[in-house]
Formats: sequence, C-alpha cells, structure tokens
Amino acid sequence: MAIPTTFSILSLIFFSIFSSLTLAEDSHFFHKTISPTQQGLHKEKLSHLHFYFHDILGGPKPTAVNVAQANMTNKSPTGFGTVMLADDPLTFGPELDSKLVGKAQGIYAYAAQDQVGLLMVMNFAFTEGKYNGSTLSVLGRNTVFSAVRELPIVGGSGLFRFARGYALAKTHTIDLKILDAVVEYNVYVFHY
Ligand SMILES: *[C@@H]1O[C@H](CO)[C@@H](O)[C@H](O)[C@H]1NC(C)=O
Ligand SMILES: *[C@@H]1O[C@H](CO)[C@@H](O)[C@H](O)[C@H]1NC(C)=O
Repeated sequence: MAIPTTFSILSLIFFSIFSSLTLAEDSHFFHKTISPTQQGLHKEKLSHLHFYFHDILGGPKPTAVNVAQANMTNKSPTGFGTVMLADDPLTFGPELDSKLVGKAQGIYAYAAQDQVGLLMVMNFAFTEGKYNGSTLSVLGRNTVFSAVRELPIVGGSGLFRFARGYALAKTHTIDLKILDAVVEYNVYVFHY
C-alpha cells in the first residue's frame, strides 16, 4: 500500500472543497445571466399616464407638511432650505373630489437660492385599475413658476418594474397666499 503523500492529501482536501462549492452553487450564487422572459418580461411598451396632483398646505387637512427649514432669521426669499413631506392625492380630474388614482408620497425640498426650485424625491403610488399597487419613482428638479417642468422617472415597481421616462408638470391652479396647488401631470414611461 502506498503511503499517502502530502500532495495526494492536499489534492483530496482541494477536491472535497471544490465539490462542496459546486453543490452549494445550486442554492447559493452571486450572479448569473438569465433570460428576460424567464422573469415575465416580454415586450417593452410605452405608457402615457395623465392625472392631477394636489398639494394642500392650508385648511384642516393638509397633505404636505413642513418637516425642516433653514434658520428663520436668515429667511431666503425663495424658501431655500425648506423641506416638506407630502402624501398628495393624485386624481383623474382637476377637482379634489374627482376619482382618486393614487398618492404622491415623498419629499420636496427648496433647493435653489435664485428662484423657487424644488428637488422632488417621490413615489407615485397608484391605487386604481391595473396599476393598483404599482409605483413610479420620480427624482427631479421642479422650478414651480416655469410653465412646464420636466422630471425624470427613474424607476418603478409592480407593473412598472424597469420603468424609465419623464413627467411633464404644468400648474393648473395655485393659491399664492397659502401655496395650495393643483398640478397637471403627463407621464411617459417605458416599461414591460
Ligand atoms: C440663526 O442665524 C443668526 C444670524 O446669523 C444667528 O445669530 C443665530 O445664532 C442662528 N440661530 C440658530 C438656531 O442657528
Ligand atoms: C387596490 O388594491 C388593494 C389591495 O389589494 C385593494 O384593497 C383595493 O380595493 C384595490 N383598489 C381598487 C380601486 O381596485
């Protein structure tokens, strides 16, 4: 009988580690290439969504609240440094009591010193029809006094997985005293 050499012992250890790694690969992996259809992703399509966004600051039931602001003694004429948190209704028509299609949930912050320019970081969480439960994520700049503002749609969930596109925001009505606003949104997104 041959006496096991150091080499053969090392090979045995090496191969047993190698085979256990191969077996483990069945349930654990770091990355692999898969087919889009296996994930239920067939043909990419372009959708156009249209709704009205209600940002209500006044009255008994505001939908956006101030959560932070810059030192008030240095108050900026453009609101720079103000941070708001919103849970704003999205409706079918411009009236608040029109059919609810979702909510715009997130943060908008006054991020410009020379004009009213918002940083918008929000999810449009839809609750109506086939898009009930699906969301679109917005990350953009909103110069609220421009006629039309373009905000990127950077992603989505549910039926909007892999979404990308843009939203065009146009002020429908604004109360300049309390800053309540109704904004018309046209959203164009590619998704599956
Ligand atoms: C606000 O700003 C003023 C003027 O710069 C300063 O004197 C004051 O200490 C600041 N207050 C706070 C709470 O930072
Ligand atoms: C949307 O989905 C939720 C949760 O599944 C359900 O409770 C609700 O009734 C649905 N709304 C509409 C308008 O279909």
